[in-house]
Amino acid sequence: MTLLAQLSDLHIREGGALAYGLVDTRAFLARAVDHLNALLPRPDAVVVSGDLVDLGTASEYAMARAELDRLAMPWLPIPGNHDGDAFWDACADRMAAPVRGVGWVARVADTRIVLLDTRVPDALGGAIDETRARWLSERLSESDAPALLVMHHPPIPTGIGHMDAIGLDGVDRLEAALAAGPAPMAILCGHIHRMIVGRLGATPVIVAPSPAHAVTLDLAPDAPSTFHLEPPGVLLHAVSGGRLVTHLSFVGAFDGPHPFFAEGTRLVGT
Ligand SMILES: [Fe+2]
Ligand SMILES: [Fe+2]
Repeated sequence: MTLLAQLSDLHIREGGALAYGLVDTRAFLARAVDHLNALLPRPDAVVVSGDLVDLGTASEYAMARAELDRLAMPWLPIPGNHDGDAFWDACADRMAAPVRGVGWVARVADTRIVLLDTRVPDALGGAIDETRARWLSERLSESDAPALLVMHHPPIPTGIGHMDAIGLDGVDRLEAALAAGPAPMAILCGHIHRMIVGRLGATPVIVAPSPAHAVTLDLAPDAPSTFHLEPPGVLLHAVSGGRLVTHLSFVGAFDGPHPFFAEGTRLVGT
């Protein structure tokens, strides 16, 4: 069994600055790291699906790493649109043989993790160009174990119009790579700051929430670009025998656990 946690969209600012003038993203990340470290059983690794920092500066990465390096397990990053070119140097020691601007591959227990860069410098939306599509095809075709594909931009419209407007170009190339196969068990994404489940063809697409702010759930086509401070969260992906089960885990202190039955009581009918 492989137990993989997913963190996404950390948006760390430097020097304690608040994201959007309001969100203390470093404090939110610190709580998420503590939460992940306290999980039992402990995840084998944590994928970090982009937007590690907010403006892409080297000093922001130093702050992000001050928290991420407290994780008791390996963390596996891929950039998002808020990440800068500095990402590749700042996270070099966390990636095995990365191809800059394209991706890298990790092995976690008996699961293969293919991490694909969808970032387009100085753009909010992402893209899969010919180079990335070819690299992905090669990585999927050589797969000797069930694979998960991790990329920042979801390859499906989510119904949140202002986010879909900064979505992913080149989805047809991704579909061709998946069709050539073997297709991954699922595509794990970020970018939308909400848990969303959909599918691209027969492949599940799972979007992680942020450990900080959430994009407002408003499916009106002209919904304004706003956020809410909903309960922060991480995902837990359990892979066993080629099957994937994904759980949402809220970060915070919640009342419980409470037993369903007091000691000595019985279920009715037993
Ligand atoms: Fe983000
Ligand atoms: Fe993003």
